[in-house]
Amino acid sequence: MIRKVAILANGGDVSGFNAVIRAIVKTAENNGVECYGYLDGYNGLLKNEYVKLSTSEGEMASGILQLGGSVIGSSTNANVFNYKVEENGEVTYKDLSDVCIENIKKEKFDCIFTLGGDGTQKSARDFSTKGVNVIGVPKTIDNDVACTEITFGYNTAVSVAAEALDRLHTTGETHHRIMVLEVMGRYAGWIALESAIAGGADIALIPEIPYDINKAVEKINERKEQGKNFSVVVVAEGAAPKGGTISILGTRNNGEGVDNTKLGGIGQIVANQLQELTGIESRSTTLGYMQRGGTPTAYDRVLSTKYGAKAMELALNGQFGVLTVIKNGKLDAVSLEEVVGRNTKIGAVSGNTAESNLRKVTMDNDLVKTARNIGICLGD
Ligand code: F6P
Repeated sequence: MIRKVAILANGGDVSGFNAVIRAIVKTAENNGVECYGYLDGYNGLLKNEYVKLSTSEGEMASGILQLGGSVIGSSTNANVFNYKVEENGEVTYKDLSDVCIENIKKEKFDCIFTLGGDGTQKSARDFSTKGVNVIGVPKTIDNDVACTEITFGYNTAVSVAAEALDRLHTTGETHHRIMVLEVMGRYAGWIALESAIAGGADIALIPEIPYDINKAVEKINERKEQGKNFSVVVVAEGAAPKGGTISILGTRNNGEGVDNTKLGGIGQIVANQLQELTGIESRSTTLGYMQRGGTPTAYDRVLSTKYGAKAMELALNGQFGVLTVIKNGKLDAVSLEEVVGRNTKIGAVSGNTAESNLRKVTMDNDLVKTARNIGICLGD
């Protein structure tokens, strides 16, 4: 019997966080369940900071369907299984998950909804292993959470990237330039690939296909022969040349056991190389956080609402330790064990490690096949 639940939003924000929150709260209210929201992700759980969520007029979860960001905040530095603590001027990392569990018990929350990407769901699984009733909802613009065909926030990011490509297209064509757009996605090329198709790009470089710059040059020269003296290129931030390495801007300070690599810079590198090898003036644009902010697309509003309502439905049915997913196009749930795969060690979160269970682009994916069929150069 579920009476009182709490939601937490964790990791880099996406458009759609609020739509999920609203759907959970609405479904909860329709079933006589009280809803709360921890502030700033797992940090709120650790510090026991939470607010009441209601969709009544003027309340926190009212009128938020179309709002970007998260009304309960989010956190990118809250691995509570390996948490940064400063004691006597010294920094140490501690497992504070038991403090969180005590907080949940104290407040008598019957279920915690964890809205987040692979790192968030790994912690969710670890809490589930320790006996907490958890239900995950897959969020990330990167679309790389295992076991689901789509995460909320991804469609909005693709739409933003596609619009950017439309705009680069006209300025590129006017000035006869090569226009390179660097998009996010970490170690997965979903945003790059799908936006390349949506935005009519000529070349898309993704992490899953180490690229040969000469192949991109060939494509641009082919276009030149057809009388097209401009080209549009999408580069995923995690793309790397054959035999080369990923471009890194620096390190993030997100704590221990998480991926602190700050990716970026590959767009400018590719633009410089293309200019040198083709003789055509090239420009690079980095889309950055535009992909995460602002209002969600209609698709993301619907997906987020489906995910939120399903998550609450699972709680009402007493199905915990699961992630809401889209499987074969249908709303479903899979166990968090399946989601983390081989990454079973409690406290180890995510990143580009051999254990991490990220969902990357596979060569048999329809997007890859479609891109190849219409002649988008994938750098191989
Ligand atoms: O995982 C989402 C994401 O936006 C990635 O695409 C990007 O590499 C990263 O987060 C940026 O992280 P931060 O918010 O720490 O700068």
